[in-house]
Amino acid sequence: MGGSGDVGATWALIAAAGSGERLGIDRPKAFAALGGRPLLAESLDRLERCDLVDAIVVAAPPGWEEPSILLAEELAAAKVVACVTGGATRAESVALAFAEVPEEALVVVVHDAARPLLDEAVLERLLVPLAEGYDGALPALVVADTLKRVRAGAVVETVDREGLVAAQTPQAFLAATLRRAFAGDLAEATDCASLVERAGGRVAVVDGDPRLLKVTTPADLALVESWL
Ligand code: CTP
Ligand code: MG
Repeated sequence: MGGSGDVGATWALIAAAGSGERLGIDRPKAFAALGGRPLLAESLDRLERCDLVDAIVVAAPPGWEEPSILLAEELAAAKVVACVTGGATRAESVALAFAEVPEEALVVVVHDAARPLLDEAVLERLLVPLAEGYDGALPALVVADTLKRVRAGAVVETVDREGLVAAQTPQAFLAATLRRAFAGDLAEATDCASLVERAGGRVAVVDGDPRLLKVTTPADLALVESWL
């Protein structure tokens, strides 16, 4: 494990426990083939090789804990401290991984295995606001398309795009703040920042990366593979 003390200052949690229903293959999305290795290998490898990260916890799909551990071993990912079994929702999976993070940790970075093309520059950008007093930071892209609210197949209204961005992962937080945020109800949370926002935390927005595309469908997987 990197860092100076026994416990690393910056912990990365990889949410990899989803089933990948929309991808529609015979295994969880984290184990879909991307460039000849499991999708999870990409973000795991990149976090392992990033000097900003001291320790890693993986939330694995139920029944896929052992392959996740073997993958970490194959990648010589020595920063991986634990592979826990994920939960029924993303937020539950993150909470289960977070339970492995010691009190002494300073920063927690939460990343989706479904976004394999993680660039170190994004992590660098995220850590700047944390040093400036923000509770958290997330990468986001401005929304280019015109947004419509739709009901029963018909447009209800055009939504004002002003000030709207699309949030990505990784998202970085002060560990203590994230711990308090996760103590509440996780039911509505689609990302970690929403829990911190609800708890009154200030979350900064930094430039996202188009290559951090979330793999949802087979077409996304093909696109990301073409970018490898
Ligand atoms: N995730 C998780 N635990 C869950 C559900 C999702 O760790 N119970 C993770 C996924 O593995 C993924 C990220 O959260 O890395 C974003 O979720 P999503 O893209 O929706 O993945 P899936 O839920 O696997 O896909 P689908 O919704 O199509 O089933
Ligand atoms: Mg899902």
